Amino acid sequence: MFGGDPVWPVDLGDLRLWPMESEDGPLLQELLDDLADFRTPFGEPGRADAVSTFVALPQGVDYDAKLLVGVWRNGLLIGALDCIVGYPDPATWSVGLLVVADRHRGNGVGSAVLGWLERTARDRGVRTLRAAIRRQNVDGQLFVEHHGWARDLTAVDAELGTWTKSLSAG
Ligand SMILES: CC(C)(COP(=O)(O)OP(=O)(O)OC[C@H]1O[C@@H](n2cnc3c(N)ncnc32)[C@H](O)[C@@H]1OP(=O)(O)O)[C@@H](O)C(=O)NCCC(=O)NCCS
Repeated sequence: MFGGDPVWPVDLGDLRLWPMESEDGPLLQELLDDLADFRTPFGEPGRADAVSTFVALPQGVDYDAKLLVGVWRNGLLIGALDCIVGYPDPATWSVGLLVVADRHRGNGVGSAVLGWLERTARDRGVRTLRAAIRRQNVDGQLFVEHHGWARDLTAVDAELGTWTKSLSAG
């Protein structure tokens, strides 16, 4: 999937990370449908949200560059991570989605998954992680800033801001 796959599943305490397959689509859709604050991070909801997550790829990028991971606890899908590796340049990975189900928030799940992504990327020589976050999604911005990410003020977009984390510093 992204040059030296981890051995799946990855266990982080009682969390299990596993690449998502298309048959997980309905579960992911359910998770997204149940978010009370869906519009803040993602905008208008639609029935095709989970499908978009499975197919979303920047133009010209191969599906092999997609790291779409389900976060499971006790057999339940409680979160998801979607990241494009080697985009927009070989030393950068771009997070498209990091979401935790409402009732599992505030317990370190998001931090555990982001920490795993950072370690995995660093181990592969990646220099920068980046994420586009909607302007209204202040909690999402505070969450990544809490993890040492910084706003990229050179990136200008009316809807989205860009946050990055340099991995070279350690
Ligand atoms: C952002 C999100 C993934 C966080 O998941 P989570 O499992 O609740 O996060 P955690 O429990 O690991 O909390 C992480 C840390 O961030 C901090 N944090 C979370 N929200 C915060 C906020 N609004 N302001 C300041 N700090 C915040 C917590 O205090 C916690 O700190 P600690 O680890 O030192 O205790 C989750 O809220 C979510 O799915 N939001 C909707 C989607 C989204 O916005 N994604 C992020 C954009 S990439």
